[in-house]
Amino acid sequence: MSVKIAPSILAADFADFGREVKAVEAQGADWIHVDVMDGHFVPNLTFGPPMAKALRPHVTTFMDVHLMIAPVDAFIDAFADAGADMLTSHIEAGPHVHRTMQATKAAGMKAGLALNPGTSVEAVTPLLDIVDMVLVMTVNPGFGGQKFLHHQLAQIRRLKELIGDREILIQVDGGIDPTTAPLVTAAGADVLVAGSSIFRDGSADAPEPYGAAITAL
Ligand code: DX5
Ligand code: ZN
Repeated sequence: MSVKIAPSILAADFADFGREVKAVEAQGADWIHVDVMDGHFVPNLTFGPPMAKALRPHVTTFMDVHLMIAPVDAFIDAFADAGADMLTSHIEAGPHVHRTMQATKAAGMKAGLALNPGTSVEAVTPLLDIVDMVLVMTVNPGFGGQKFLHHQLAQIRRLKELIGDREILIQVDGGIDPTTAPLVTAAGADVLVAGSSIFRDGSADAPEPYGAAITAL
């Protein structure tokens, strides 16, 4: 299976998401990663279901929604209605993460489970028969442009062993650039989220906007 690139619109132009999404998809983005933050689970605020719904018609690939909110369950149906393909919730966001995974799948979405850098990947073991993807954070969630945490490479390798031959994707998010991308893919990552390394040096007005950055990854 080839590695997927999921640009995070957290680093894109907030006043022009439709155009930014179109630009990265034209240059080979496989998924569009949408970061939802609540100012409580993480110390930053972004947007909610209405923005995801407005974005949906512009996404022709796969809308990957990363919830950095707590509690999660009251918003699951709203993100299903918004058209999310994958809904990823944090294992640290509440005591009933198995229920959250069940509700996500019952609402018709793929279920992702995210882990902060302080959480051991062993914690996902009881959930491996229900999740479609595990997101190993390679920074502390909340902000783009942070430095990759190298100790997470060992966690990715361990997660790969725990998954075995199950069809579960491993996603990484935070500090992914042309230097760290080969490290995470060698460790077993299938989906690479990248914000600043794709959007930082470009503009949707350029001739092949973000194409070089996506190719470099
Ligand atoms: C961080 C978000 C990431 C963020 C990554 O909390 O979950 O998706 O956009 O940004 P970079 O690629 O700049 O580290
Ligand atoms: Zn994210």
